[in-house]
Amino acid sequence: MPLLSVRDLTHTYPNGFQALKGISFDVEAGEFLVIIGLSGSGKSTLLRCINRLIEPTGGTITFDGADVTHITSDALRKHRAQIGMIFQHFNLIPRHSVINNAMYGALGSMPAFSSILGRFATDIRTRAIEALRIVGIAEKSDVRADTLSGGQQQRVAIARALMQTPRMLLADEPVASLDPSTSHSVMSYLDKINNEMDTTVICNLHFLSLVRQYATRVIALKNGELVFNGSPHDITEQWFTAIYGEDAVEVEIR
Ligand SMILES: Nc1ncnc2c1ncn2[C@@H]1O[C@H](COP(=O)(O)OP(=O)(O)OP(=O)(O)O)[C@@H](O)[C@H]1O
Ligand SMILES: [Mg+2]
Repeated sequence: MPLLSVRDLTHTYPNGFQALKGISFDVEAGEFLVIIGLSGSGKSTLLRCINRLIEPTGGTITFDGADVTHITSDALRKHRAQIGMIFQHFNLIPRHSVINNAMYGALGSMPAFSSILGRFATDIRTRAIEALRIVGIAEKSDVRADTLSGGQQQRVAIARALMQTPRMLLADEPVASLDPSTSHSVMSYLDKINNEMDTTVICNLHFLSLVRQYATRVIALKNGELVFNGSPHDITEQWFTAIYGEDAVEVEIR
């Protein structure tokens, strides 16, 4: 049984725009699936349907055997707790310390109340330090998050997601704001978590060179439809043109 099964998924935004037009694919536990496609093709919408930040308009999403397409309240909270999320702009609380930002991951969602900070149990602090160690940044625990570089902030965001002990990690263009070498550093930590902690990863990426290096499988979206599902090494020049259009030229990052 796949960990995630998406069938005939559609999403129409309230203004009537149909961002997803009947998408079907499975994700096995342990995969590192990368989603590619032009800007506006529906990649973020798809990720947001999977962790149910938005509710699909049609089709089904099955996670770990349970239909999560239209769940609400407790079931929705439990679903989201199993899925870590990483964003392009890190979404840390800038004035708070690195360790506190990591610990917020244990709350299941971003805290609106910082008053409970002082009362975090010691074991949560210990786990947070361990999570920061996994992404190589434990020595920065006590500094303010906004004093870190972009790559360091993204590693804190990964540590925060790890605090959820997620079954699956969704990353929406996690390296789009980073330089090439920092991009590899962040991707290699996602790779490590995928391999060593057996966490399934679904990641939106723009650079095919990164896709080839880190993805175990790729799906491509075009105008809300799935147009490719296969190995990163099968994305030939013809496929590249089909996915990105006649005028597109591949930009390498090494
Ligand atoms: N809240 C919204 N209301 C209406 N349309 C939306 C909304 N959010 C996104 N869209 C539209 O849905 C389509 C898919 O958007 P989405 O953000 O999923 O694309 P994307 O593939 O993630 O693009 P990018 O690579 O630029 O992040 C786009 O045409 C976008 O304009
Ligand atoms: Mg997007």
